[in-house]
Amino acid sequence: MSEYFNEYRGRSVLITGGLGFIGSSLARRLVEMNGVEVCVVDALRPEQGGNLFNIDGIKDRIKLHVGDIGDNELVNHLVGGVDYIFNLAGNISHIDSLLYPQQDLENNCAVQLTLLEACRQFNPQVKIVFTSTRQLYGKPVYLPVDEQHRVAPPDINGIHKLAAEQYHLLYHRLYGLRSVILRLTNVYGPRQLMRHNRQSFISWFIRQAMDGEVIELFGEGKQKRDLNYVDDVVDALLLAGASEQAEGEIFNLGGDRPVSLADLADKLVSLTGRGYISLTPFPPERQLIDIGNFYSSYRKIESALGWRPRVSIKDGLKRTIEFYERHRSSYWS
Ligand SMILES: NC(=O)c1ccc[n+]([C@@H]2O[C@H](COP(=O)([O-])OP(=O)(O)OC[C@H]3O[C@@H](n4cnc5c(N)ncnc54)[C@H](O)[C@@H]3O)[C@@H](O)[C@H]2O)c1
Repeated sequence: MSEYFNEYRGRSVLITGGLGFIGSSLARRLVEMNGVEVCVVDALRPEQGGNLFNIDGIKDRIKLHVGDIGDNELVNHLVGGVDYIFNLAGNISHIDSLLYPQQDLENNCAVQLTLLEACRQFNPQVKIVFTSTRQLYGKPVYLPVDEQHRVAPPDINGIHKLAAEQYHLLYHRLYGLRSVILRLTNVYGPRQLMRHNRQSFISWFIRQAMDGEVIELFGEGKQKRDLNYVDDVVDALLLAGASEQAEGEIFNLGGDRPVSLADLADKLVSLTGRGYISLTPFPPERQLIDIGNFYSSYRKIESALGWRPRVSIKDGLKRTIEFYERHRSSYWS
């Protein structure tokens, strides 16, 4: 996957949400490449995954702006002259989007327009890769879900991420912005938010297992999901950024093979040697947005850009657990 290295050498990259889980992993990869100018902007929103420890060891090699991409002056200044924007800032939690719909609207739509307007005015040729979510497909009509599948978001967050995708694509058609959309599935790995369970079920299962606590499975835990290790997602972002062919396109990412939540929990209990599994009825607020079995087809990005997930669930979970064993204090509270 090193074919994109030359594309980024000597270029400047802005990562929104770059102190978060995926953004900081991308920043680290770009810094490792040497010769890439990396700038990170992050509002360190309290309920989200932004964490200064995520840039430990690279902070002297990036430019960091702690600020909000809804701030006109700041973004007007930041977008000018950069070659690539990886736009990862946004609200992630589906549950929170139902509790605080206006906040989700503000941060997943209004703020995105501020960024896109800044690009239109000050850098209309910029390449911009936007991270969307598989959640906007809703309950699948068929599996695996490809990009032709109808969209029917089951929650507010899905609607707003869909709108944000469409803004990016509209600015591509109207103003020539070189936008690409990646619809991510469940991502896990080092540097993810571990403080609460409203962003990701995987990170929460990992924490419960590591702490020797009960992993609660709703229903019988038979729901299937696909997962991507964060390094694979970073590869996809960089491939999409480097490809002209990708511009104006939407691509699903997806896991190698689906896994049931019960199997995932079993794996974690055996890898950590800790934790217990219990079955519990769906809480009503979760049942409302449950989508049953879900896994994506990544055939389109595989044939267009040669991307496929490389890290097996077992290896990915091992690496993740090892990371948090070493750095638990920076993520647990
Ligand atoms: N993690 C997943 O499983 C997953 C799945 C599907 C889609 N995604 C998408 O990937 C992107 C990154 O997710 P993540 O898991 O790294 O989340 P994260 O919470 O770890 O990172 C998001 C970062 O964005 C920052 N941020 C939010 N609003 C901002 C704003 N207005 N201005 C500046 N910074 C802001 C937050 O402070 C946080 O650091 C998100 O857009 C998310 O919707 C993630």
